[in-house]
Order: sequence, then C-alpha cells, then structure tokens
Amino acid sequence: MTSTFSYAGRFSKDSVDTEVIHPTHAKYDFGTAYPPPETAPLNELVEGLIAGLEREGHDLVYYPDSNGNLALREFTAKKLEADRGFKVDPEDIFICAGSGEANYGLINALTDPGSTVVTERFVYNGTLGQLRAAGCNVVGSPMDDDGLIPEALDELFSSLTAAGNKPRMLYTIPEHQNPTGTTLPTSRRKQIVDICHKHGIPILEDDCYVDLRFFGEAQESFRALDDSGMVSHVASYSKLLLPGLRLGYFVASKEVRERAIGFRSSSTANHFTSLAVEGFLKEHMQEHKDNQNAALLEKRNAMISSFGEHFGGTGAKLSEPQGGCYTWLEMPIGTDMTSLRDKAFDAGVGYIAGSVYAPNGDGDNYARLCFGYESPEKNRDGVALLAQILDENGMLNAAPRD
Ligand SMILES: Cc1ncc(COP(=O)(O)O)c(C=O)c1O
Repeated sequence: MTSTFSYAGRFSKDSVDTEVIHPTHAKYDFGTAYPPPETAPLNELVEGLIAGLEREGHDLVYYPDSNGNLALREFTAKKLEADRGFKVDPEDIFICAGSGEANYGLINALTDPGSTVVTERFVYNGTLGQLRAAGCNVVGSPMDDDGLIPEALDELFSSLTAAGNKPRMLYTIPEHQNPTGTTLPTSRRKQIVDICHKHGIPILEDDCYVDLRFFGEAQESFRALDDSGMVSHVASYSKLLLPGLRLGYFVASKEVRERAIGFRSSSTANHFTSLAVEGFLKEHMQEHKDNQNAALLEKRNAMISSFGEHFGGTGAKLSEPQGGCYTWLEMPIGTDMTSLRDKAFDAGVGYIAGSVYAPNGDGDNYARLCFGYESPEKNRDGVALLAQILDENGMLNAAPRD
C-alpha cells in the first residue's frame, strides 16, 4: 500500500479550504430561494429539448460557439428588447452557467485584490462571497424601502474616493432585490446613472428577478438608461425557470466582455440545456410567467397575512415586495436573529439571518424569508411557528422599537 500523498506546501496561495454545500431543509423551508415546485414546467422543457435536438442536436458533437447557443442568444436579445427596453446584438450576449458565473467574470475583470466595491447595504450573499474571494473591500450603501438612496450613494462615493479608496464598481440588484425585496424606482436609477458618470464608477446591474413581478410595471433597467458602456447587465434563467438548469447571461461593452470571459470556468455554457430553455420559452414564456407569478403571489400573501396575525404589535416589520421570492423581516434592534438561526432551524423554521448579507457587519436583527417553495398553508404555519420560537426564546416584544 502506498502512503497518502501530501499536498502540504503545494496549494496555490489563493486557494481556500471550501466546504461542499449539501442543501438542508427545515420543516418550513424559508431559507433558500427555490421556485414554486408545482409550477416547474418539466414536461414542456422536455418538449422544448426534443424540438431543439431535432433541429440542431447534431451540433452537440462540437464544442459550441464560446458565447453560447445562437438560438438562445437570439431569443434572449428579443426578450431584452421587449422586457428591458434595450437592443442588443445576439453576438454581444454571453450565455453562462447561471448569473453567478456572469457576476464572477465581471467582478474579476473589473477589480483587483484590495479594490473597493459598493453594493446595497444588504446584498446577495453569493455575490458578497465572490467579491470577498476576489479580495475586494465591500462597502454597503444606505437603503430605504425603495432601495439605494442616491444622495447617500453620492456621499459614500465621495468619502471613499477622498480616503483613497475610489470604488471600482457599484454592484446593484435593482429589481426585487435579494435579500430585501425592494425595487429601485426609475427616477432613482436616473440619478444613480448621473452619479456614477460624475464619479467615473461603472455599474454591474444584476437583473436576476425581473421576470418575477406580481403587479405594477418593471422599472427601466440601468442598461436601458445608459448605453455608454458604463453598465454591465447580468440576468438569469434560474429564477424564471429553474436553478438546476444553470443558465444565465450577461451583456457588457466589448472590452469588458472580452476581459470577463477570460474568467469563465469552462469553454462554453451547457448547449443541451440551452436547447431545452430556448425551445420552452419560445412557446410558453408568458403562460409560465403568469402561472409562476400567481403561485408566488398567493404564497407571499399567505406569509404576510400570517405575519400580521402573529407579529402584530411586536414592533417587527415584514417587507411587501412587488415580486421576487423574498420578504425581509426587520425585528426590533437588539433581536439577534443570527444566534437564533440554528435553534429555529432545529425547531422547524429555516431562514437566513440578515448578517449574512451585510458587508458592513450589521444586520443581526433582520432575516430573509423566502416564500416561493412551501405551500401557502405552510407559509402561514411556518410564520406562526417562527413567532412562537421567538417568543419561547424571549425575543418577541423583547425590545421597544426606536
Ligand atoms: C441576485 C442574485 N444574483 C445571482 C444569483 C445566482 O443565480 P444563478 O447563478 O442561479 O443564476 C442569485 C441566486 O440566488 C441571486 O439572487
């Protein structure tokens, strides 16, 4: 028998010990943003795949075009023009393994270790992790119920620049933000475009949730408001369809795009699933959006009404998003949702504590509750149980709101 080979001293200086994540599910799973399982269009995706394979399945023998399947890029270009108000040549769209891969490439193309990047005060933990892994110093900018506050962003840019830490980019999730659920009004987006031009700071717009709108109109995308090349636009088919498909995309100026693709983990996105997605969406996109959003809205409303019943008068607040799959729970200051998390999970309620999304190190009194996965009944019962768990731990009515 040979002895175990030792890698001591052989790892790259940038490699880190990374835990493999095995998803765990609480009885009431409000932790992860899964789509409603009952509206997953599995049979129709298979039909889309068959149509795609009949048309161009023979091309699977090749490594496909490095910017992704052409039919899906053509479909995506039409979708962007119709839904997001900007025209883009299919040649300028890059299909990736989810928007996560798109963000990864753009972050690494536009920052160096030690760079400062500004995000919303609370920001999707996946991107926060990517920014930190790239060595960035991440600073959260103040938000209110409408998302980023332009005046505060302007001041933050000025003070960071004056301190020698001029931000290398603004990363923002303007539509149904993860984790807060806020949507940034077009008027603020216009102000932010001007502010970013004034400071010379590019915008990475993560439009992952735009398809999940229950009512009202989508606000204009940053990319539609600015075609100078300052905005890189990322989006995903994980939220409209299914995360397991691992397909997203980005649009950026040629010079940014050509740098970002150097950080891809593979030569091209999955051609096979691209055929299924294009085949499905071409036939069924609107019908699917309507089904999925109706299901999400019912689940959102169940969570909000149960919250009203069980948290009324406690000083807790729950956001009421116009779309997406999250509500944002704000408990009175001093309520430690971070330390309660494991206990709540074991007692049956999974959530993610606000501190996980907080570049500035705050957020203990917040939690993200996803309403998309469980049934409306389970959303109601799970919120009731969360109130009970907080109460049993002396955390309901624990502190007056200031
Ligand atoms: C804002 C945001 N960006 C990117 C992602 C990554 O998603 P995917 O890589 O599945 O497209 C997520 C996933 O939750 C997200 O919330």
